[in-house]
Amino acid sequence: MGRPILIDSTIKEFNKKIKVDADKSLSIRFALLASQAVGKSKAHNLLKSEDVISTINCLKKLGVKIKWNKKKNFCEIIGNGINSYNYKKNLTLNAGNSGTAARLIMSTLINSPKIIKITGDKSLKKRDMNRIIKPLQEFGATFKKNHGTLPLYIKGSDFIRPINYFNNKIASAQTKSAIMFGALSAPGQTSLKCLPSRNHTELLFKYLKIPITLNKENNFDIIKVRGKQNFKSFNYNIPSDISSAAFFIVLTLLSKNSRLVLKNIGVNKSRTGVINILNKMGAKIKIRQKRNYKGEKIANIHVKSSKSLRSVNCHSKFNSSAIDEFLIIFLAAAKAKGVSYFKNLEELNKKESRRLDWGSKILSMIGVKNKLIGENAIKIWGRPNLKLKKNYEVKNFLKDHRVMAMSTIAALTLGGKWKIHDPESIKTSFPSFFKILQKNLGAKIN
Ligand code: S3P
Repeated sequence: MGRPILIDSTIKEFNKKIKVDADKSLSIRFALLASQAVGKSKAHNLLKSEDVISTINCLKKLGVKIKWNKKKNFCEIIGNGINSYNYKKNLTLNAGNSGTAARLIMSTLINSPKIIKITGDKSLKKRDMNRIIKPLQEFGATFKKNHGTLPLYIKGSDFIRPINYFNNKIASAQTKSAIMFGALSAPGQTSLKCLPSRNHTELLFKYLKIPITLNKENNFDIIKVRGKQNFKSFNYNIPSDISSAAFFIVLTLLSKNSRLVLKNIGVNKSRTGVINILNKMGAKIKIRQKRNYKGEKIANIHVKSSKSLRSVNCHSKFNSSAIDEFLIIFLAAAKAKGVSYFKNLEELNKKESRRLDWGSKILSMIGVKNKLIGENAIKIWGRPNLKLKKNYEVKNFLKDHRVMAMSTIAALTLGGKWKIHDPESIKTSFPSFFKILQKNLGAKIN
């Protein structure tokens, strides 16, 4: 375990342009789709984080040829079509900390007859896998020694059939995408009716001309995928991750006399909940130079210090498009005037750590009154003049990168003396986090 970081001074004024690391969801999806395309695919700016490295390592074990030149910032993957993995008996795949990697890779194995063990780190072993086990079983895959969590043993089948999937409870892009990836192996049409969540998989399928139709019915997305159709290799430039940008957006809002431009951010509407929520709270975050890229939207984000944030009664319609940003949004709410309320967030306690609980714990530690309501809601009594003077320590958070990053931003904006453990946890999603803070923005971190 690396040593903790120490922060005992707030960040000074800044006026900068930065580029945060590449989008994790798109990086993992690129790798998985490229591994099943026909021919050589190439990504520029693939995220060099542990979650993506775990994905690439699993694919290599499945016999996929991959050349990742980290210095020149490109990754080439040679695919041989759907269900073309070639691997030895008794294979174990380790998805590390990544729920996306574990769930999506499993769905590409439903047609692979040799049994494969899938495992992950301590945090990932606590996470629910039933949400994908059930639909993958319906496709025809079987699971041995199944307790609904990792490790899991999956055995694919030669007789995969398409399914009709309906879920009106959980909005989960990982579940939806797992079923869509599963659908690639199924002859005929798989149909999904599910609550909206990030739609990168849909946009990539469309771009790759995989037979897919997308419709809306009331509150639901209706997705139909026709399987067993090979698709051609492709090139992709991965934009920067709005989930990484969010920490710097709130850093700027809560710092004095500062401005920041975040370049080349993926601003797909299914991801921009954080901007909608913060703007409702009185931030004036601007999306500029918006452009289209292979179905996605990319833009620069302009943000400046906010003199006065106000509380928000957050509509749950924003929940799925801000799902990874709530910890940092809670920090903004801690400095806002009034009482904020966030609800229907049961998914937050099912992430890399119990994030709703961690949000509450950190706010309580810094003297911000808050109340958890059941397993899915929180009220936060904001303190616009909050300035910290005491000692604060953050540890035992199951190495959740977002708990660590939120604590770092709290330390750099609110004052006090902070000791934050497991700083290396940020490597799962945003390896340049500390470098940007220190080198570009002048933060003092020991
Ligand atoms: C992800 C989907 C989200 C998100 C996760 C990445 C993805 O989870 O929290 O960090 O890449 O599909 P859900 O499955 O809850 O949507």
